[in-house]
Amino acid sequence: MTDFVQSQINNQILTVRINRPERKNALTHAMYTALGDALEQAESDDGIRCVLFTGSEDCFTAGNDLSDFASGLQGSFRETPVGRFLMLLAKATKPVVAAVNGPAVGIGTTMLLHCDFVFAGTNARFQMPFANLGLCPEGGSSLLLPSWVGRVRSAELLMLGGAFTAEDAYRLGLINRVCDPSDTEKAAMETCEKLVNQAPAAIRATKMLLNKPIQQELEATMLAEGELFSARLKSPEAAEAFGAFMQKRKPDFSRFK
Ligand code: COA
Repeated sequence: MTDFVQSQINNQILTVRINRPERKNALTHAMYTALGDALEQAESDDGIRCVLFTGSEDCFTAGNDLSDFASGLQGSFRETPVGRFLMLLAKATKPVVAAVNGPAVGIGTTMLLHCDFVFAGTNARFQMPFANLGLCPEGGSSLLLPSWVGRVRSAELLMLGGAFTAEDAYRLGLINRVCDPSDTEKAAMETCEKLVNQAPAAIRATKMLLNKPIQQELEATMLAEGELFSARLKSPEAAEAFGAFMQKRKPDFSRFK
């Protein structure tokens, strides 16, 4: 149980809010469990037709909690809280919408690649700094990102791991609309309201068909990424990167081969 993830059902929309402002909404194992539980609830409850992921007006999420990273991942990827959450997200049959303001780092960006609609504030900062942390892509991003934005742009975003803006994300085709941060959630909610008024089986059929071309490959990719990611978490390169973050300095990878 965690209060850092708050779920609420209103008008057939399940709103899942990430709320851990003192750590920039960084996600712990317990928070992934809560996010996964929310997706399971959405699947099993006929009274839910749409899921909305959101944070606050100034932060979506700083990604995985870096202290939790240091403790590694136990068991097979599917069984880890993050693996379970990502698999449930990839297999969600109902539409998933996201409202993003401020930082959307690591899984904060990769989870959006699975969403059906994404609205982002002008203050949004997307980033997939996996290589910067001595890690590798996760959440299906090594398959989804090139599919959505092309190979060379994916290499730039994943190998150099720089931050990019909502305008960049819009140009890349990763989000639907750039909003004033005070309007992002409202815009996302308006789309949720339109979705719940549509014919539900038709929406599920549409989502299934949109996902079908990559569905099998996606699961295999996520499992392969998960294994490599777990191994890289134990790597000396990652230890250097996490140590550097804690000590508020730049990592030094010069001694590694
Ligand atoms: N895990 C754990 N703690 C985190 C965190 C994370 N992913 N991201 C931020 N925090 C903590 C900071 O350590 C800081 O704690 P402190 O007040 O005790 O020093 C606090 O949250 C506020 O973060 P800060 O860095 O001061 O905020 P900012 O607005 O200057 O920068 C970010 C925001 C998100 C750009 C920056 O915090 C960041 O880069 N975080 C790491 C993101 C990351 O690498 N995630 C993993 C991706 S795989």
